[in-house]
Amino acid sequence: MKSLLWKKNRGAPAIEASNGARASTCAPSLACKSRQKRPPIGHRLTAGVSATSTPEAAVPTAQAAAPNGTGSATIYIPSQKTHSLHAQGVEVIDSLQDWAEQRLLRFLKPVQSSWQPQDLLPEPSSPDFYDQVQELRRGAQQLPNDYLVVLVGDMVTEEALPSNMNLLNTLDCAKDETGASTSPWARWTRQWTAEENRHGDVLNKYLYLSGCVDMHSIENTIQRLIGSGLDPKLENNPYLCFVYTSFQERATKISHGNTARLAAYHGDTVLAKICGLVAADEARHEAAYTNIVEQLFIRDPEGAVLAFYDMMKKGIVMPAHLVDDGKHASNNGGASLFLDYATVADSTGVYTTADYADIVDHLVSRWRVADLRFPGGKAEEAQQFLCQHADRVRRLANIQAERKLRDRKRGKARIASFGWVNGRQVSLI
Ligand SMILES: [Fe+2]
Ligand SMILES: [Fe+2]
Repeated sequence: MKSLLWKKNRGAPAIEASNGARASTCAPSLACKSRQKRPPIGHRLTAGVSATSTPEAAVPTAQAAAPNGTGSATIYIPSQKTHSLHAQGVEVIDSLQDWAEQRLLRFLKPVQSSWQPQDLLPEPSSPDFYDQVQELRRGAQQLPNDYLVVLVGDMVTEEALPSNMNLLNTLDCAKDETGASTSPWARWTRQWTAEENRHGDVLNKYLYLSGCVDMHSIENTIQRLIGSGLDPKLENNPYLCFVYTSFQERATKISHGNTARLAAYHGDTVLAKICGLVAADEARHEAAYTNIVEQLFIRDPEGAVLAFYDMMKKGIVMPAHLVDDGKHASNNGGASLFLDYATVADSTGVYTTADYADIVDHLVSRWRVADLRFPGGKAEEAQQFLCQHADRVRRLANIQAERKLRDRKRGKARIASFGWVNGRQVSLI
């Protein structure tokens, strides 16, 4: 699961890693240029906006992070609101047990009919193994540095899967109470995790075999990110969580779908197939989570619309929002690895602010938010906010695009060196 949207943090302290590097929480207004040919995703590139800001960021994503004193770059976030599920919500989630058993678990694929990473990669026991690796490397060598940065960021995000499973098991009424509970929520969480586990696995092995990246730096980043965790402010609340995961799964479907298309464009058919299969999994997961939230809207429309509103006001943070390789800031004048990665994802067209707005639009339509009827009050205010939110995000995108254009004209270019790709440089403008 993943999304690249970061918050434009108004007045909140910046994240501070224990290595002393300060990561600005404001989005850079810089776009990236590849050293190689540009891909044909015109509408995304013309948007020209960073995927790292949202217009309604009243609540900071990470209020503060204190050094842990251990010398590692693990980031800690102070405590926050917890256990916010309302009384009716408890009844609704409990009432969904049968539905989850009958309908939710259907979205999982049996292991015997699932693809495995090994189906897509060179076979180590084959006498042709080295030839197969050479073939893979020929495709990978076509990939430009900016694409590789985004692919590594996507892989690192997938590899930080323990944080996502951990999050699902903080949920009131829907967690796995034992580690092997037979409740449908617990089985969903474990088997969803098992499906997701293949994503990081296959991308990791592909990148290792490609020879195009610095695996030590990447592995170092994964260890740090899992150690730092993930904080989308879900408050142990399954309503908030299922809105978040609905958004995230659609965002990852879009992102992996675009890396697949770009891989094909650059001539890497192996990687195109890998990313395409991952995107198809994310589409199935999106369908599952949006179906859960649909049930919430049917059984508790007021609770559901307020949860959707709450997550949109907070902004959907990407699961890698605490990413750090321990060196990026010191090698790039204090720049944040996360923000630079998000900028490159935006400029390559893999995931943009326009995508964020499209997802908001889609979910508003999918859950028929405009058709709900409330007798005034907070629910109606939330409904009105939600129906206008995509336009609000698009206006921000346009402002960012204009700012980038101005910066470009003034020659305000920056180049970042990414340890993930052996310190090679990628332009950010
Ligand atoms: Fe995934
Ligand atoms: Fe997924």
